[in-house]
Amino acid sequence: MRLPFFIILISSLLISSPLPARSWKKDEFRNCNQTPFCRRARARKPGACSLIATDVLISDGNLVAKLIDKNREDPATDLDPVKPLILTVSAYQDAILRLKIDEDQTLDPPKKRFEVPEVIIPEFEAKKLWLQKIVKEQIGGDSKPSSVVYLSDGYEAVLRHDPLEIYVREKSSGNRVLSMNSHGLFDFEQLRTKKEGEDWEEKFRGHTDTRPYGPQSISFDVSFYGSDFVYGIPEHATSLALKPTRGPGIDHSEPYRLFNLDVFEYIHDSPFGIYGSIPFMISHGKSRGTSGFFWLNAAEMQIDVLGAGWDADSGISFPSSGNRIDTFWMTEAGIVDTFFFVGPGPKDVLRQYTTVTGTPAMPQLFATAYHQCRWNYRDEEDVENVDAKFDEHDIPYDVLWLDIEHTDGKRYFTWDKALFPNPQEMQRKLAAKGRHMVTIVDPHIKRDDSYFLHEDATKLGYYVKDATGKDYDGWCWPGSSSYIDMLSPEIRSWWGERFSYLNYLGSTPSLYIWNDMNEPSVFNGPEVSMPRDALHVGGVEHRELHNAYGYYFHMATADGLIKRADEKDRPFVLSRAFFPGSQRYGAVWTGDNSADWDHLRVSIPMLLTLGLTGMTFSGADVGGFFGNPEAELLVRWYQLGAYYPFFRGHAHHDTKRREPWLFGERNTELMREAIHVRYMLLPYFYTLFREANTSGTPILRPLWMEFPSDEETFSKDEAFMVGNSLLVQGIFTERAKHVSVYLPGEQSWYDVRTGATYTGGSTHKLDALEESIPAFQRAGTIIPRRDRFRRSSTQMTNDPFTLVIALNSSKAAEGELYIDDGKSFNFKQGAYIHRRFVFKDGKLTSSDARNSSSGKLMFNSDCTIERIIILGHAAGPKNALVEPENLKLEIELGPLQLHGRSGPAVLTIRKPGVLVTNDWTIKIL
Ligand code: GLC
Repeated sequence: MRLPFFIILISSLLISSPLPARSWKKDEFRNCNQTPFCRRARARKPGACSLIATDVLISDGNLVAKLIDKNREDPATDLDPVKPLILTVSAYQDAILRLKIDEDQTLDPPKKRFEVPEVIIPEFEAKKLWLQKIVKEQIGGDSKPSSVVYLSDGYEAVLRHDPLEIYVREKSSGNRVLSMNSHGLFDFEQLRTKKEGEDWEEKFRGHTDTRPYGPQSISFDVSFYGSDFVYGIPEHATSLALKPTRGPGIDHSEPYRLFNLDVFEYIHDSPFGIYGSIPFMISHGKSRGTSGFFWLNAAEMQIDVLGAGWDADSGISFPSSGNRIDTFWMTEAGIVDTFFFVGPGPKDVLRQYTTVTGTPAMPQLFATAYHQCRWNYRDEEDVENVDAKFDEHDIPYDVLWLDIEHTDGKRYFTWDKALFPNPQEMQRKLAAKGRHMVTIVDPHIKRDDSYFLHEDATKLGYYVKDATGKDYDGWCWPGSSSYIDMLSPEIRSWWGERFSYLNYLGSTPSLYIWNDMNEPSVFNGPEVSMPRDALHVGGVEHRELHNAYGYYFHMATADGLIKRADEKDRPFVLSRAFFPGSQRYGAVWTGDNSADWDHLRVSIPMLLTLGLTGMTFSGADVGGFFGNPEAELLVRWYQLGAYYPFFRGHAHHDTKRREPWLFGERNTELMREAIHVRYMLLPYFYTLFREANTSGTPILRPLWMEFPSDEETFSKDEAFMVGNSLLVQGIFTERAKHVSVYLPGEQSWYDVRTGATYTGGSTHKLDALEESIPAFQRAGTIIPRRDRFRRSSTQMTNDPFTLVIALNSSKAAEGELYIDDGKSFNFKQGAYIHRRFVFKDGKLTSSDARNSSSGKLMFNSDCTIERIIILGHAAGPKNALVEPENLKLEIELGPLQLHGRSGPAVLTIRKPGVLVTNDWTIKIL
């Protein structure tokens, strides 16, 4: 059975030429009905939960209760088992509620259920509030009073005993924000011993899951109040606002699946789970604002969004009143370890979520610039040519990538000696131009006795085991492979050591890493992954940690790169699989998309969703991985991709070469312009990366994150904000003549190319231009840029800045600029410059925006401001005065020009010569 399957798969992946028709092989993957825990959970009726809370008390600063089955005295019910569960409610600063439910360990369950380690950051525990007392409150006709505990001055948590319900409410209004089990769907299948004749095995397409511990799933309903839409729970190729999956008028929709899978040719609109999983959902509504719910659990999860008026057919009737959105969460294993975030603003929820899982890492500057990848750049000569062509065509780029074929037979950490005889010299040549290289290192290790890595991992016992205890053997790029057990900290540390210059021969300090196939992908495994009954250290079953496997791999690699550099330089690791917390280790991308307009379009909701769930450093393959893009699509993709936080061109090896100079002069020019826009905006992007690093606020933001009360924006996902200042609208159709763009808010917007003004709060129909997609600067903001043309970002570090000031109706604007050495960790000790620019009353002031606890190191820069462009200022003033120097400058009046378009006259102050590090004021006279 196995052999023909993988032969078919490998041949379609490797041999096929021309490319196979786009097809998602749906049957290779389980749907909810073929997944017993999902089928069982979906069949549950509201009110089915018969658990009640008893023995409620405060212990170790937590509220603790026992959950018992109220029917347990009834001999007629076949209860199995009836042991109490333990519920723990803890409160943390910022009104964060943590709710855990697990089996009672004092009652000796057959096995300790898996709790996902090393996702919650250590600092979080220090934010715990020690609960002191429980206030009892009688609710309606309940037989027992509820227990109420403090969360913050504004919020409290309520545990209703019977029926069991947990919710967070606002103190002042008594209004609920979030609740669990309001519909009585909670279910917790406890571990138990097998009854005689019982069969726990599960089969799917010739694969048998031995399921030695039997059913152990958990499911419950979560309700969001004052909610108009829910978002989040990546990764799916679908809209930003999540569509209901059950309810009136919805036929046979699958729930949103969270199960990390390598899905060949995924389609552009589906609730089907792909490479990464973040079980974090965000609700937003006009009446209440934003809230969030996060379930830390790494087993397969399925989530239903229940449509309003959820009804008779399903046997369930939920009222649809009060803008509540009900959701239903199901998982195969693990425990309940959940977090309720009250917001109330969109950025508050991100701050709360990243308080638990950590903020995104601050990348090196080069990683925020343009990356050039292809499967594969063949040899050293190819690398040299591609590199030279970028220079010849005046196109900046920072990183050249090598895919799997650069290795000796897919043995990672090696080089194909014939194709890459001098890897160090190759890297040094790139480094001389300030450029970097990335090589791929996947988690499958070729089972070849003469391969040092396989030999060591086997000897040390570092591989994941199969259900019988032998090293698990699966099929991937190198053929027969085993997989490093990344759950173990000891093994991760050993893995990290593989990146030292001594161990990774041919690597140099300018080499960084790409971790692919880490779902993990196993070509001949069930659903192209590892069997659920495979075993990790400590007897943990793969089913329990599946969604976190790639996360630990990413962590181990990033930590290895930090160690390699003696903890001095920031790592760069791109990963395909991800889990909550992955934002601390590097970037991710949306995997194997296709070169078509639909995939271009869906990249925006996908990246917005990743940003909303902490993974802001993300991008999609520019150009589309499978297939050959027409020049127009490729150009549009560069124009959009220039705003992706992670900006990389990539392509499948069967596709035609598509470097930006291969489509005629005009198209080269258009792609050069698009890439150049990114390079000009690097100071702005870098400042936004730092904002994400300190607050969790993503770089790419849905419009509603900046305009939370503008309902028009709630389900928009063709346009997006880059930071708080730029709005970008993609063009997603061929030969588009016009494009409609909704500009939110009451202030106006300035076209970034021409400075022309557009009113906010309305939709504008614009001409679709060949040379760029629409982008607007919001009135009231200041954007820092670097406009000089260089070969790479690292060659721009001494360049002067341009400030683009977009005035609002009060003739005011503000913005920020963050700079550091772009490389080391010294910024953590204060070695950075953070300026705040304010334009008000005809004066631009630069002041220090560092907070007082920044640390003792300093970062210095001789960079100056070379140009100040003021949009929205009336013509008239002829001069400006720089203070404290008392230097008088001329103001020019002329059109703004970008991409060959020009608009109304704007004021420009040239060469004010002020240093970015200093405090100064420039007065318009
Ligand atoms: C996977 C990756 C793709 C890569 C290929 C070969 O399909 O998603 O980006 O090029 O493997 O390594």
